[in-house]
Amino acid sequence: MLEEHLKSVIRDIPDFPQPGIVFKDITPILKDQQLCSEIIDQLVECLQGVDIDAIAGVESRGFLFGMLLANRLDIPFIPVRKQGKLPFKTVSESYKLEYGQATIEVHEDAFAPGSKVLIHDDLLATGGTVVAASKLLEKLGADIIGYTFIISLDFLQAQGRLTRFSDRIISLVRFRD
Ligand code: PRP
Ligand code: MG
Repeated sequence: MLEEHLKSVIRDIPDFPQPGIVFKDITPILKDQQLCSEIIDQLVECLQGVDIDAIAGVESRGFLFGMLLANRLDIPFIPVRKQGKLPFKTVSESYKLEYGQATIEVHEDAFAPGSKVLIHDDLLATGGTVVAASKLLEKLGADIIGYTFIISLDFLQAQGRLTRFSDRIISLVRFRD
């Protein structure tokens, strides 16, 4: 089963990037191209029948599978980047991280108003990142159609923060404690 396989590959790094945080390292997944394909296959299967205009991925780890997914679905990819990285006119949104504070931005012409946008990130922890991404994309008129994650830390109970945008929340690996 894919979830068990992924759990066996994802590496826990204690006290990174600071004491008390157990970092979920997905880089061992990236070494296995077959496994990366299976991840995209599974996400595509979960999204069967969903009308999606574009995938938005959050810098930086959301770019990895977000772009692959968009490419497989043959739809555009929207990069949501950290402050100061995008060269054209942007809109921005600030948020609190599991560790620290951040601002994310998107190009104001990244998609047409009314587009059905699915947000992808590698990991759902407190939900701060994707809530900020949702608010950011809504500022430009996006209809948030759902979320995909490789990993969700379900014990942090962030899913309830997302349901006001969309209750389609797909995660391939759930950590319950
Ligand atoms: C991590 C992770 C998610 C986010 C999850 O990103 O990749 O984007 O934190 O945490 P949250 O649900 O509590 O917001 P990080 O900001 O560390 O940056 P990176 O993707 O560039 O490594
Ligand atoms: Mg991230």
